[in-house]
Amino acid sequence: MSHLARIGVAIDTGLLKKFDKLISQRGYANRSEAFRDLIRDELVEQRWEEPEAEVVGTVTLVYDHHVRLLNERLTDLQHDHHESILSTLHVHLDHDNCLEVLVVRGQAARVKRIADELISTKGVKHGRLTITSSPRGIE
Ligand code: NI
Repeated sequence: MSHLARIGVAIDTGLLKKFDKLISQRGYANRSEAFRDLIRDELVEQRWEEPEAEVVGTVTLVYDHHVRLLNERLTDLQHDHHESILSTLHVHLDHDNCLEVLVVRGQAARVKRIADELISTKGVKHGRLTITSSPRGIE
């Protein structure tokens, strides 16, 4: 583990009160861990803004499998990008709807493009790209 540095932060008391409430709702044991997570979150976001950065993430899709050719279209897209899609989890949510979670990895710009393609496919009711990073980029 890297060395710890102690820093002092000047913060408005009202803002600090809200922050303390937020982190207690989220279950943080102390402010330091909450600050570290906020910083890591921003670093991950920044990494995704560099088009060529290597990133990992998940794409979540909800769709109606009765929509004609939708399953085939989504599967074709996944095969087209097999080198960036590491794994797919499929759950039959109910009689009509399917949930798919895809683990993606690659250059940020490419991964975003693939996610956009999947999410904008006609018949996909909801989709979201969740971004993260390998620990290397945020420690
Ligand atoms: Ni299904």
